[in-house]
Amino acid sequence: MKTFYITTPIYYVNANPHLGHAYTTIVADAMARFHRCLGEDTLFLTGTDEHGDKIVQAAEKRGLTPRQFVDEISGHFRALWPRLGIANDRFVRTTDEQHKAAVQDFLQKVYDAGDIYFGEFGGHYCYGCERFYTEKELENGLCPQHLTKPEFISEKNYFFRMSKYLPWLREYILANPDFIRPERYRGEVLAMLESGALEDLCISRPKTRLTWGIELPFDHDYVCYVWFDALINYISALGWPGGAEYARYWPGEHLVAKDILKPHAVFWPTMLKAAGLPLYRHLNVHGYWLVRDTKMSKSLGNVVDPLDMGQRYGLDAFRYFLLREMHFGSDASFSEEALVGRINADLANDLGNLFSRVLSMTAKYCDSQIPAGTVHTDADRAIEELCASAMENYLQLFRNVRFAQALEALWELVRALNKYVDSQAPWTLAKEGQQERLSTVLNILLACMRKIALCLWPVMPKAAGAMLAQLGEEVPDDGTPPTRDLAAETASLSGLRVGAKAAPASNLFPRIDSAALAEEQAAKKAKSQEKTKKVQAKDEKKKADAAATSPLPEISFDTFKSLDLRVGTVVSAERHPHADRLLRLLIDFGEGEPRQILSGIAEYYAPEALAGRQVCAVLNLAPRKIRGLMSCGMVLTAGVGDCCRLLTPDEVVPAGSPIS
Ligand code: MSP
Repeated sequence: MKTFYITTPIYYVNANPHLGHAYTTIVADAMARFHRCLGEDTLFLTGTDEHGDKIVQAAEKRGLTPRQFVDEISGHFRALWPRLGIANDRFVRTTDEQHKAAVQDFLQKVYDAGDIYFGEFGGHYCYGCERFYTEKELENGLCPQHLTKPEFISEKNYFFRMSKYLPWLREYILANPDFIRPERYRGEVLAMLESGALEDLCISRPKTRLTWGIELPFDHDYVCYVWFDALINYISALGWPGGAEYARYWPGEHLVAKDILKPHAVFWPTMLKAAGLPLYRHLNVHGYWLVRDTKMSKSLGNVVDPLDMGQRYGLDAFRYFLLREMHFGSDASFSEEALVGRINADLANDLGNLFSRVLSMTAKYCDSQIPAGTVHTDADRAIEELCASAMENYLQLFRNVRFAQALEALWELVRALNKYVDSQAPWTLAKEGQQERLSTVLNILLACMRKIALCLWPVMPKAAGAMLAQLGEEVPDDGTPPTRDLAAETASLSGLRVGAKAAPASNLFPRIDSAALAEEQAAKKAKSQEKTKKVQAKDEKKKADAAATSPLPEISFDTFKSLDLRVGTVVSAERHPHADRLLRLLIDFGEGEPRQILSGIAEYYAPEALAGRQVCAVLNLAPRKIRGLMSCGMVLTAGVGDCCRLLTPDEVVPAGSPIS
């Protein structure tokens, strides 16, 4: 029996799961279900990556031990998946004893083969990435991911002789065009291999620096580098080296996003080769979900909670949207408007409407008993052919991880069926008493709807189960696929249970009120813009403070003498009528008339507390109009950050006294 083994990345436990993690895991779930429908012996693995500096830091922040911390967050991931309709068969943790033992076996094997050596190494270490960068890999001396300056660390470490396998890897990728897919990522990896920037891989960390990791079997003073440890999960979870599942399911397929292309496309295959193990079949690489074209981030408050979406719009509709909206390999933008748009257009209008119309006609004209029928007319034959070709395209595209195109191919059939209803007009056939023709039309429609439901089960298991139940089939709700031979289902329209009772009505995907949503979204957008502004203002203030404390270029004594600095006495102060942060001060500088100066101190001083107070100011600054009022000079203040104090002589001096 053909096997299919699919994995997701094992997620870091330093953050809670969000839309991005949910997407990968939902795609893996859909792929696993799809291959189950093709009758393949399928295994689906996900899990958590729990070692490394980042985890120790995150645990410290929460006042927990690393162990307590990883148990808690790993638990959140494990609990989330079933709530998103995900039916993984295994859940691996890198802190599992079985995994640790496998990593040590793997290290020993590669060490014994002479591909791990001990050496002195100086490199640019980025704590954010937990890895060393070579000079060539840095961009203007900064880590290309975090744009921070890495620390130069020199220490003795163990190295995997990765460079030895790079020419072989290049040849392998050239000879196997779909080893890494889609093509753009294959190209990226080939470019990486051809750039000459890749070297041997440092695979250890001294325990003096990090203890939260798997000890090297050949040196107890070192732990294993997290990536070398993490990648082995894909076989440790199968019980490698001795496990029966390893023998049964390996080699499998991996699913990852573009952020972790290099470890999967370069480190992992060379590691497998060095250990003498077969390579994975495919590396499937998808793009990133953005939110309104920006990266999801906690500080912007735009992180999408998948459970929340599932609860608001229905889990199946959410899953459908994710697979339909993202062209596998490219980035996609998430918004609730787009989600609602798809639900209303594709699910409520096209698919939901088809089910609702056809089932209510079957109730009306056939007492909900599924009628028999045989293809007769050209229109019937066209539908029959379209059904076969749409399904074949769907299967082919889905196999090749082109989910959006696969669903689009199926929707061609959905839309054609709605048109067929219109053109065949069963209501007219009923009126004219053409019972046999009426039965045929309904039979063809119901048979095609059944095929659509079978195809959709991997994507929308609950909704597809409901569709099949409405067509008189029993579908268990325990993850058992509704067919084990989806490929054979493309051959003919057969399979419909003629004579069985269909549901009298159907309301699978109710329309969502997009006007109400638009209102809600506008409020949300305003709030998020406010937040973005605040974040930006904070950044600017930081920059300004940094500028204020950094030394300015030297000036001549003459330049300094050219400033007209004086002490004045505040005559009156009031708020600027059009600017919250400004006060309008009238100050006596002994000039006869008080001078008007606007000052940005409204947040720090109440106007009524200022009259009679002495202040220092620059008088010969060019006058400036600010929000409708003239400012003739500038009052001097001191302070950084949130501190702002007026400068005042320590005893009263005559108004207009020069400062020198
Ligand atoms: N622990 C490593 C993986 C080790 S695998 C041997 C890791 N973990 S992670 O928690 O950062 O997960 C990264 C993965 O999460 C991405 O490759 C992708 O599958 C998913 N996503 C996280 N954010 C994403 C988006 N914004 N969009 C799409 N998927 C992304 O890296």
